[in-house]
Amino acid sequence: VLELAKFLHVLKSQQFNRKTLEEVFNIAGEMKKVVERGGSADLYGKRIITLFYEPSTRTRASFEAAISYLGGTCMFSTENAREFSSVAKGETLEDTIRTLCCYHPDAIVLRHPEIGAAKRAAKVSSQVPIINAGDGVGQHPTQALLDLYTIQQKIGQVDNTTIAMVGDLMNGRTVRSLAYLLGKYSGVKIYFVAPKVVRIRDDIKDYLSRHDIIYEETEDLSEVAGKVDVIYQTRIQKERFGDRIEDYKKAKGIYIINQEVMDLMKRDAIVMHPLPRVDEIDPAVDSDPRAIYFEQAQNGLYIRMAILIIISGNIDRKKKAERRKKIEKGTTE
Ligand code: CP
Repeated sequence: VLELAKFLHVLKSQQFNRKTLEEVFNIAGEMKKVVERGGSADLYGKRIITLFYEPSTRTRASFEAAISYLGGTCMFSTENAREFSSVAKGETLEDTIRTLCCYHPDAIVLRHPEIGAAKRAAKVSSQVPIINAGDGVGQHPTQALLDLYTIQQKIGQVDNTTIAMVGDLMNGRTVRSLAYLLGKYSGVKIYFVAPKVVRIRDDIKDYLSRHDIIYEETEDLSEVAGKVDVIYQTRIQKERFGDRIEDYKKAKGIYIINQEVMDLMKRDAIVMHPLPRVDEIDPAVDSDPRAIYFEQAQNGLYIRMAILIIISGNIDRKKKAERRKKIEKGTTE
């Protein structure tokens, strides 16, 4: 039994350790071959729900592609649960999850605009795994897994890597989840590059300090671009600013990865971005081999295939354990 399979849910990056990360990455490597072969039946008979209350291209498409490649069924999918589910009539997230669990899915992939939504869903789902596909400005753990996998694949290791996280660090759940995972490694150095209005939050800095990760905050991208192995660029997330439109204007358009920045970077460094991008990476640099953000998105397919295989197996294990208990008590044949 895999170490990660001991968890019912995938809710946050902190629940992973070096061993479970290695397990996921090893299976993701196998998944690449499965996709190249045209698919497998690893999820045959498994029924997955993708419940999205916020827009998504990559996360929902890659989860649903993962289900398809592995021979499972996406038994219910909604890309706009706020409008096209009974939430529009006032139903709570908890009641929605309880109801969906009545139909016995093998996992529910959930994206929601509120921090802690995945945890709330997990509280009312004692049998069905909940996979956090982004909870507001909280976390996006499967994105962090694919980000870390990409760093390992492209740089060759995560230990002793120097990374600049750039842009909307306050609202960026991918930055937060990736920082938590980087805290599991040694010799990592992080430069947080952001304007004052969207600086990285204290909880992440406290976590990194507790895990002996060296970090620096700066507003000057050109100062650090030549020092790092990875530039992790992010979008200024307009939708998270609410009525703080002045703050959005202060943060927007400051950091753009263009040829000038690429010229400062090391020859073997990489540019990552969780995507979608707006104007923070000039499309003219897409053809530079160091610009690997679409390859990064592709890794999301392999990582999510791995996660679904590991996590959807939890139902069977739980059912088997219950059945064994019943047999022991003499309540079944
Ligand atoms: N990176 C990411 O979460 O992209 P989507 O919002 O398109 O899913």
